[in-house]
Amino acid sequence: MENVIELRSVSKVYKSKGVDDVVALDNMTLEVGRGEFIAICGVSGSGKSTLLHIIGCLDQPTSGTVLVSGTDVSNLSDTKLARIRNEKIGIVLQDFALIPYRTAYDNVMVPLYFSKNKKNANERIMESLEKTGVADLARREIRKMSGGQKQRVAIARALVNDPDIILADEPTGQLDSKTKKEIAGLFKAINSEGRTIVVVTHDDELAKTADRVIRISDGKLV
Ligand SMILES: Nc1ncnc2c1ncn2[C@@H]1O[C@H](COP(=O)(O)OP(=O)(O)O)[C@@H](O)[C@H]1O
Ligand SMILES: [Mg+2]
Repeated sequence: MENVIELRSVSKVYKSKGVDDVVALDNMTLEVGRGEFIAICGVSGSGKSTLLHIIGCLDQPTSGTVLVSGTDVSNLSDTKLARIRNEKIGIVLQDFALIPYRTAYDNVMVPLYFSKNKKNANERIMESLEKTGVADLARREIRKMSGGQKQRVAIARALVNDPDIILADEPTGQLDSKTKKEIAGLFKAINSEGRTIVVVTHDDELAKTADRVIRISDGKLV
């Protein structure tokens, strides 16, 4: 199987004045095959978000190599990183990061501003909202939505540029158990379209949906 994500001896050290260095990722090696659905589990502070941000090209490692779709992203410029993020990766961040006073439609449009391909914008936005089951809420403002509805909009926004890879940071963290199940099913459906999925989670239900569960402790795989 072809690897779509590869980490080779990746470390991330946060340095701040007056406090000890924090080793958030410690010499980590990880391979994720194309079309795989993996869950990364670990207690708070174990390095899950740091790992997801590095895979998602939102941050870069202190040392080691990161390959995304065969491209070495460990030392790319910010502009080139942003391009890869926009074209290859859809990210669902922990707090949704949606604009509350704008509609679902407007929020899903945001990645298209940064995309080279702006063709059929309306169709692509509506298709993404349909896929995540909130097309009927396209014109509703985010602030008037439930947690589950917001999560569906955030996933639609991650899908709008048709990325190979979807990353999500604790996507069921704030949801009730019924909605958790629905969102887990949604990731499974997105995975069955051939997209590679990496979710960071505390949620056993979501972890069970994945093909493979990876455990992380103190920045190391266990
Ligand atoms: N920007 C940062 N500056 C300094 N330390 C950080 C920063 N981000 C995370 N950390 C530290 O790195 C470790 C891993 O954090 P994180 O990746 O957020 O873990 P998790 O998502 O598993 O809770 C923690 O000790 C955290 O305090
Ligand atoms: Mg986290």
